[in-house]
Amino acid sequence: MLIDSHAHIQLSQFDRDRDAVLKRAQEAGVSAILVIGFDMETSLGAVELAEKHPQIYATVGMHPHDAKDLTPDVLEEFRKLAAHPKVIALGEMGLDYYRNLSPRPIQKEAFEKQLDLAEAMQLPIVIHNRDAYMDILPILEARQGRIRGVLHCFTGDVELMQRSLAIGFHIGIGGIVTYPNAKDVQAVAREVPEDRLLIETDCPWLAPQFRRGKRNEPAYVRAVAEKIAELRGTSVAAIGETTTKNFQTLFAQA
Ligand code: NI
Repeated sequence: MLIDSHAHIQLSQFDRDRDAVLKRAQEAGVSAILVIGFDMETSLGAVELAEKHPQIYATVGMHPHDAKDLTPDVLEEFRKLAAHPKVIALGEMGLDYYRNLSPRPIQKEAFEKQLDLAEAMQLPIVIHNRDAYMDILPILEARQGRIRGVLHCFTGDVELMQRSLAIGFHIGIGGIVTYPNAKDVQAVAREVPEDRLLIETDCPWLAPQFRRGKRNEPAYVRAVAEKIAELRGTSVAAIGETTTKNFQTLFAQA
């Protein structure tokens, strides 16, 4: 049993064969999929899929790329959507200093507003971070004890992992762990405490090595689990059991 804790199967890349993708996930032992919104349209798409399929859950939120679109009205829409019983977290939200598609002060403002909402609604959060640990970690540290969540697609080193764990966060490991050169991510996957590990695909992006460069999909979370099992000297079944339990603990509504 495996859970893909970060997928974007609401996107048009899956319009052609979404049912086949869901079937392959089921055949691969994927028992639940968390579909992540990153703006209003994709958040609505995530909720729509969650309404249709019992194994799908949704998040709603605004990605830092589109931080400028988080007007008070949009935030209010997210608040309403987040009350849906199958919306189990807010996000993805965070900071992206790699592409800088929104100015940094605006990214920070949108991030803080969504963190306020998460605190008010007592929902866990899904964090997107690209080259921004130096700003994200202090923001989270300032709210330690009042927020919980996952740093998705974690690509930092073991030291940054320790800091993230100290804030109480979970660590999301995806397909990058299967890339031969991903030494930091592999070290993190080896050392992260068993009760803080989540697995994910981030599909349609970041396909594991055996499909690298092609469209990713939830079934391939198995390749992530296999690699982590190899790194930790355990079985895929054990990784599946642990990460499923962690998912259910963090996202208590799931
Ligand atoms: Ni994502």
